[in-house]
Amino acid sequence: MVAARITVNGKETPLSPAAPHTTVLDLLRERGLTGTKEGCAEGECGACSVLVARPGVNKPTDWVAVNACLVPAAALDGQEIITSEGLATVGEPGTRPTLHPVQEEMAVRGGSQCGYCTPGFICSMASEYYRPDRCAHAEPAAGSDAHADDAEHGPNGFDLHALSGNLCRCTGYRPIRDAAFAVGEPTEDDPLAQRREQDPPAPVATEYARDGATFLRKDTLAETLRLLRERPDAVVVAGSTDYGVEVNIRSRRAECVVAIDRLPELRELRVESDHIEIGAAVTLTEIERRLDGDVPLLAELFPQFASRLIRNSGTLGGNLGTGSPIGDSPPVLLALEASLVLADADGERVVPLAEYFTGYRQSVRRPDELIRAVRIPLPLSPVTAFHKIAKRRFDDISSVAIAFALDIEGGTVRKARIGLGGVAATPIRALATEAALEGKPWSAETARAAARALRGEGTPMSDHRASSVYRSAMLGQSLLKLHAHTTEAVSS
Ligand code: FES
Ligand code: FES
Repeated sequence: MVAARITVNGKETPLSPAAPHTTVLDLLRERGLTGTKEGCAEGECGACSVLVARPGVNKPTDWVAVNACLVPAAALDGQEIITSEGLATVGEPGTRPTLHPVQEEMAVRGGSQCGYCTPGFICSMASEYYRPDRCAHAEPAAGSDAHADDAEHGPNGFDLHALSGNLCRCTGYRPIRDAAFAVGEPTEDDPLAQRREQDPPAPVATEYARDGATFLRKDTLAETLRLLRERPDAVVVAGSTDYGVEVNIRSRRAECVVAIDRLPELRELRVESDHIEIGAAVTLTEIERRLDGDVPLLAELFPQFASRLIRNSGTLGGNLGTGSPIGDSPPVLLALEASLVLADADGERVVPLAEYFTGYRQSVRRPDELIRAVRIPLPLSPVTAFHKIAKRRFDDISSVAIAFALDIEGGTVRKARIGLGGVAATPIRALATEAALEGKPWSAETARAAARALRGEGTPMSDHRASSVYRSAMLGQSLLKLHAHTTEAVSS
C-alpha cells in the first residue's frame, strides 16, 4: 500500500508523522500553510475552509469547500486540495503574486480588515466561483420565477448561501457581498476551471496506523462490512461533521476509524417509478443539486440544514446514524415515510424510519450494520412544509422542527404525515395530530383542533434553547401557519 499522502496546492504532502485523528487544518498549519485558520474548531466559523476536488454534479470535478477543522487528514489520502495560498499565481522571485479573481475583488472592495476570516471566505467564494452552473443561473429562463438578482443572489449568479458557513467579526458583510457579486466567470486558461474537466482523484484504500490508532478505508462495501463485523468498536465516518467536533472539543481519540464516504454502493441516487433511493454517503449538497427541487420538502429543508460548508460534507446517513433527536433530516424523512436500507456482511434489511429510533441516540442499527440508502416512496404528498424554529435563520440548531406532508383532495385531508424533532428523546411522528386531521375538511376549525393535538405531542423539555411551553406553542403555531399559507395560496 502506498504511503498516505495528500496533494496540496499541486505538491504531494505525506501524512506521516501526523496521528490518525489529525485534522486537515492541523496538518496544513504544521506544514507551514498557515493561511488556513482555526476559529472555532467545530464547523461554525469557516476560517478553516479549503477546496477539495470531488466528483462533480455537472462536470467531472467540482471544487468543493469544506471545513478543514472537521476532516481527518487521513480521509483525504490520495486526494487534491487547494488552500488560499494555492489560489494566487506566484511569478518570478521578487515579483508580487497575481491574486485570484476572488482575492482581487475582496481586496479592492474592502472585504477584509484584520484578515483572520479572509482565507476561509476566499475558499468558500472560490468554490462558488467555480460552480459550473453559476453563470447559467444568472439569467432565469423566460417565465421562471427563479431570482436572478435578489438579496441572496448576485447578478453574476453568485449564491450568498455559499458563504453561510463563514463568519467575519470585524469587516461587516456588505463589502464581502459586494466582492462576491462582482466576480466574473473563470477564464478559459484558468487552471482550476480546466481541472474541472478531468475526473477527480479516485478514492484509495487506506490503512494509516500510528500510536495505537488506525484510520481505514476499504474499496468496497462488502470489505467494509466484513471489517465492521471484526471491529464493532470502530467509529464510522462519512463527512466527519460530527466526529470531527468530538475530536476537537471532547478530545475523542477512537482506536479505529472507518471511512465510508466514497464507497460506490453508498453514492448512488436513483429515481424509480415508485420510490427515490438516496445513497447514505451522497452529500447533502449533491442531493440538493441532483434532485433540483423534485422533492419539495427536501428542497425546503436543505437551506436550513447547517451551512453550505457542512452540507458539502454532511450526509443523510450521518444525520440518521448519529441518532440525534434534533437532527434536521429525521422530521422531514418521517413525513415522507422514508425507509432505511441497512446492510451487514450477510445481506440487507429495510426498516421504516418510524421504527428505526429506539431511544436517545439509539436505533435498531447494530454496530456491524451500515445505512446503505434512504428510500422515499412515490408519489409524494402535494402539500408539504418544513418549519425549523431556531434562534438564527441559518446555520443553527433547532429548538423544534416540524415537517408536514398532506394529501388534500376536494378540500378533505385524505392523509397526513407529520414528523417532529426536538420534542422527545427521538424524532417522532405526530400520530395523534395525524388522526385529528385525516378525513376532516381542511378548514380553520380542523386546523385549530389539530393544533391543540399537536401542542400535546411528545414530551418537550426546557433547556437553554427554549422552554417546554415555548416548544409546545411552536408546534401548534406551525400547523396554523401551514393552514394559513395553503388557504392563502388557494384564494390568491
Ligand atoms: Fe471554525 Fe473550522 S475553525 S469552522
Ligand atoms: Fe477580521 Fe473578518 S476581517 S474577522
